[in-house]
Amino acid sequence: MNEKYLNKIINDDCTNHLSLLDDGSIDLLLSDIPYGISIDDWDVLHNNTNSALLGQSPAQLGKSAFKRRGKPINGWSQADRNIGIEYQEWCTKWASLVYPKMKSGSFVFIFGARRTIHRVINSFENVGFLIKDILAWKKPSAHHRAQKLSNILEKRGLLNKATEWDGWRLGNLAPIYEPIAWFMKPYKIGGTITDNILLNDVGAINLSDCQINDSNPTNILEFGFRSNEIRYHEAQKPEDLMKFLIKLTTKEKQIVLDPFIGSGTTAVAAKITGRQFIGFEINEDFFKTAVLRLQEITNDYKRTYKADIFVQPTLFEKKINYKRKKKKNK
Ligand SMILES: C[S@@+](CC[C@H](N)C(=O)[O-])C[C@H]1O[C@@H](n2cnc3c(N)ncnc32)[C@H](O)[C@@H]1O
Repeated sequence: MNEKYLNKIINDDCTNHLSLLDDGSIDLLLSDIPYGISIDDWDVLHNNTNSALLGQSPAQLGKSAFKRRGKPINGWSQADRNIGIEYQEWCTKWASLVYPKMKSGSFVFIFGARRTIHRVINSFENVGFLIKDILAWKKPSAHHRAQKLSNILEKRGLLNKATEWDGWRLGNLAPIYEPIAWFMKPYKIGGTITDNILLNDVGAINLSDCQINDSNPTNILEFGFRSNEIRYHEAQKPEDLMKFLIKLTTKEKQIVLDPFIGSGTTAVAAKITGRQFIGFEINEDFFKTAVLRLQEITNDYKRTYKADIFVQPTLFEKKINYKRKKKKNK
């Protein structure tokens, strides 16, 4: 089954291949998909050619991704407002290809942006999946930029207004979490979830293997990168987070599908945890990185890495340890 694809990453557009996978063969779909927020070329999933996108205007040349995306949410044209609709159409296209490939009762985790995850959810519901929860991946830190309104008013010479608006900012609160939509493929109407688990080996969660600091995990997942974890992709996800989601919902040897695998983190996590994987990546450089990362995982690596899985302290604990250290050093 799936011989051509099993434990491989294919360097191509996933939509050329998804329909070729065996029906009902995938145990988990876990994917950090393009968020549709125009963070880079690979994230533009609409026909908007507006000159402010991706730093195409002279004023944006050489600016960081953050500045390039610094377009007002209000949009500058109707085309800006269509971006969400076109993103949803793109999601629906590949979600409908994936749907028949999933086992009945299997789970799906899709990473998304806070501003666009509703489009993913609409698409997945429209093709037949059921939304189960929205998890929050809580990051250890977040860039926060919110311009001071008083500074802008001062530059305009509106000094009285600047005083009136002192302390006010333009922007959002620090974006410390990213949503992960959790779906289930429905199982046979009339049967029970337990019947389906006995039939298909999917649909339950393994809490005992996924304890965090000796407690059951909540739907807020705090994971960061380990200090020795190399960053290959601007949207890379921590290996520990991917391992957690895989261990939570699959058994060893089961198949994890990631159609948008980037630098291969899902496959790396699947290999380390003894699961099988199928991956696709359209960009040749990311694809090559993913293959190299996989080659580095030898049996030895697997053993040593497994020993310290899920021991990452929570942010709260980190703060306490930091305070303790500081006290000790005084
Ligand atoms: C958010 S990134 C994934 C990053 C990944 N989680 C990691 O840790 O490296 C999404 C990836 O999807 C790829 N991609 C976009 N459209 C694709 C398509 N149609 N088929 C396959 N890959 C695609 C992009 O090149 C990008 O690397």
